[in-house]
Amino acid sequence: MKNNEHILSELQAQQLKRSLKAIDSRKSSQLELANGQTLHNFASNDYLGLSQHPLLLESFKRAIDTYGAGSGSSRLLAGSFSPQHDLEDKLAELKHQQACLSFSSGYATAVGIIPALCDKDDMIIFDKLCHASLIDGIKLSGAKFKSYKHQNLDQLASYLKQASQDRKPNSRLLIITESVFSMDGDLSDLATIAQLKEEYQAELMLDEAHSIGLFGTTGMGLAHELNLCSAIDYHVGTLSKSIGLSGGYLTCSQVTKELLINKARSFIYSTAPPPAIAQAAQTSLNIITGTLGKQLREDLWSNINYLNEKLNSLNSESNSVSKSAIIPFFTKNGSAKQALAWQQQLEQQGFWVPAIRYPTVAKNQSRLRISLTSQHKKQTLDALIDVLSSLETANLN
Ligand SMILES: Cc1ncc(COP(=O)(O)O)c(C=O)c1O
Repeated sequence: MKNNEHILSELQAQQLKRSLKAIDSRKSSQLELANGQTLHNFASNDYLGLSQHPLLLESFKRAIDTYGAGSGSSRLLAGSFSPQHDLEDKLAELKHQQACLSFSSGYATAVGIIPALCDKDDMIIFDKLCHASLIDGIKLSGAKFKSYKHQNLDQLASYLKQASQDRKPNSRLLIITESVFSMDGDLSDLATIAQLKEEYQAELMLDEAHSIGLFGTTGMGLAHELNLCSAIDYHVGTLSKSIGLSGGYLTCSQVTKELLINKARSFIYSTAPPPAIAQAAQTSLNIITGTLGKQLREDLWSNINYLNEKLNSLNSESNSVSKSAIIPFFTKNGSAKQALAWQQQLEQQGFWVPAIRYPTVAKNQSRLRISLTSQHKKQTLDALIDVLSSLETANLN
């Protein structure tokens, strides 16, 4: 019989055990822990700080008064409230697609849509560093799949070539990638991927979880910024990061939406998210696409550029300039032990910068993941750099 204690102690021995940290409250970019400690938070994906914005809170509270706290049932039974329909219409319009379907999380979106679209006759080719939700969706679908080395588009092209030769009539050839990779913070070469998709008559699914709020004149993501929306067949996003709430969505064609309403199990067999979230998400989108959003984006990019510049001046070969709000800070040999030791040292000095370890990243790729928001102050970034530079020195010695 399997022994749960044994499994946990093995994880502990490999420095891979995880645990939860109780947070009592949050003010701007600071966390107050249940043990009374205050930490500067560098682990939030709420890049524009909207989850605490008064306009969003007010809209959320008003919607709770109107619609109640929970939705009470699946969308297909009695849980499909007007704010959910309005949010979907708004997202479809903003993402230049015909339709949108929302889900209870980004994770539920991926594990719902991919198995609804693909089966054993289909082939999925995806970037090796795609998020776990996409990989789990791919595995659940039963489709054939291949992963290309991270950002290696020559390998993508060669897999596409082979797959298009082996392809059965009426089968699907689907490329899946992300705009901004969640642990490395680097950007996909969407223009080349879009060209390859055309060349091999494939379809393209793009997860923009970490790019909404940051890219494009209205903050609608990297495909917008690059004017490539029309190349994306399945545009995945989440309400949980820059939008400041929780939930996920897919923008797509009207036919795909109808198919998913009928086939996506995480949509059909799950209670709809609270309608108040959908109402508040519309407020959030109004902020992101308006003048306040533009200001918050400028603040965020100013922080990203500032920290990049400072990090570059540290004596570090492994840390390159990030083009997003996610900045990985690598240990010299990728050791989980080292990353955990760094996390602890930072915590002792008042900074919460999580160590990222296997299986989130490869075994020899452990790192710290710094995520920046518009709310961070430059003096806090300076103080963080001071601590990071002392870690760096300790590592070199
Ligand atoms: C790229 C990517 N896609 C999807 C998700 C899942 O989104 P959610 O947190 O809304 O479940 C995440 C979450 O971190 C992510 O990084």
